[in-house]
Amino acid sequence: MHMINRLTAAILLCLAACLPAGYVISQTNTHDPSNNVKTWWKEAIVYQVYPRSFQDSDGDGIGDLKGIISRLDYIKSLGVNTVWLNPIYSSPNDDNGYDVSDYRNIMKDFGTMEDFDRLLKEMHARGLKLVMDLVVNHSSDEHAWFTQSRSSRNSPYRKYYHWWPAEKGKPPYRYSLFDINNDAWLYDSLTNAYYLHYFSRKQPDLNWENPQVRKEIHDIMKFWADKGIDGFRLDAFGFAAKDTTFPHFPAGFEKNFMKYYSMQGNLHGYLQEMNQEVLSKYDVMSVAEGAGNTFEDAHNLVDEDRHELNMAYAFDGVDIAKMEGYSLLRFKEVFSRWDSAFAEKGWLSIYLANHDQARMVSRFGNDSPEFRELSSKMLTTFIMTMRGTPYYYNGDELGMTNAGFERIEDYRDMPTMNQYQALKNKGGDIAAFLKRLQFECRDNGRTPFQWSGKPNAGFTTGTPWIGLNKNYAQLNAEAQEKDPQSVLHYFRRIVKLRRDNPLLVNGRYALLDKSNPDVYTYTRELNGKKWLIMLNFSGKPAKAHTGLALSGGKVVMGNYPTPSRNENLRPYEAVIISL
Ligand code: NOJ
Repeated sequence: MHMINRLTAAILLCLAACLPAGYVISQTNTHDPSNNVKTWWKEAIVYQVYPRSFQDSDGDGIGDLKGIISRLDYIKSLGVNTVWLNPIYSSPNDDNGYDVSDYRNIMKDFGTMEDFDRLLKEMHARGLKLVMDLVVNHSSDEHAWFTQSRSSRNSPYRKYYHWWPAEKGKPPYRYSLFDINNDAWLYDSLTNAYYLHYFSRKQPDLNWENPQVRKEIHDIMKFWADKGIDGFRLDAFGFAAKDTTFPHFPAGFEKNFMKYYSMQGNLHGYLQEMNQEVLSKYDVMSVAEGAGNTFEDAHNLVDEDRHELNMAYAFDGVDIAKMEGYSLLRFKEVFSRWDSAFAEKGWLSIYLANHDQARMVSRFGNDSPEFRELSSKMLTTFIMTMRGTPYYYNGDELGMTNAGFERIEDYRDMPTMNQYQALKNKGGDIAAFLKRLQFECRDNGRTPFQWSGKPNAGFTTGTPWIGLNKNYAQLNAEAQEKDPQSVLHYFRRIVKLRRDNPLLVNGRYALLDKSNPDVYTYTRELNGKKWLIMLNFSGKPAKAHTGLALSGGKVVMGNYPTPSRNENLRPYEAVIISL
């Protein structure tokens, strides 16, 4: 699918001591009794680690917690200060951990709770914060709650999920994003009833109307917060509240299912309760996957006076990929519209990729050998110079590209396999489908991290759970460490630039040269300081039309060894000029 709290002065001081040199925690609001909001999460730079593909430590071909621990010095060296880890809880892995069978345990493939405790300790020792994925719109069908719920209509757990007794006939159609038939109701003969699953059959939706379910989830959150984690990313949470009378939706609603699924019913009530019961009691940040259907929805999620969440990430920007009529004009329009809607109030995140997307450089840049490095750096410049907390996906700091597997056997993603099977059953165009996957399947972003040119890129000594991108012999961290002009070193420099300059975090954003189809130009401005950012999104020379006198400006940073000092930009050139 293209799918907080007061800190005592003592803790604040201790935190500051753990942070990298030059990193400043904003004191704004921290002690303001009128609102409960700290700002470390606005200034954070979040690095997303996909555990399955990051580093394997025991040769089973699957990344694990010990592997991550062994790479913490690398993560620290990037300059980022927060890590978001995709789910690591016990799971039968129907959807790579987004199907949790025990929220208080670690997935066997990934290690043990001792490994987790060590990971957290080692992260904190390096000044890195940890944000965990919280997958509570649904659980696994192998969770004890569900096995109990399924067992009998009289089970005390029956109301933990959504059941529809078959004697009432077929339930009103609900669209499933991952089911092979796209039908979100699955008949279960054991109790002659249907259960609801917006995602796969193995991901039954939890019933948030049930206060016991909510209490269980608050307790789970407290369990992790008590361990000292620093935040939660709420997976698919926009879908949690449902009209459980299950009215009929208009025919064809699935084409616009978000309107019917996202931000329904008492969702905000549930979030306010979660805030009161858990989030406000700990020093944790919270981020929602998805920002609703409208700016109003998004504001309702994240505005401070709502006491719900700290931030959300909207899909609009990342969804603009080439195959869906991508144009830079649309890209500029979407990011500018979102920025202006949150210019005065509320906070969002900024990202171009995650584990649900193909690789950033293959979608928004140019992954040909000629332009891969330049366009990766240009896109990274975009992310690090926009307002909103940056979420940066592991491997993008190397400019990792789409693997572009040609055979269906090479893919691992469950919804992709279901789509393939469904298409095959209908006799659909498999060649066209495979071509599309090469560009947009999320497995492109899930291939093993390319550490070195050694066998399996240094990811594993065993057989990797998913194939590697063939380019790892050339494109890898070890090679880039040795090259001062590499994408990796550029990433470190621009991360430091953001950390050192509050203008890049809080400064006012203004779009210039709106109708330029090739160049994205904007300014960021704070306390009389103004920076101009010019990004050539095309593979040919292009001119920005800023209307500003650049001659007196000073180049802050650029992705060419000698950055342009004027409006004439080279292919995929990125320049930041202090005016
Ligand atoms: C969104 C997650 O990012 C995605 O990977 C997962 O498949 C769905 N939610 C279901 O949990």
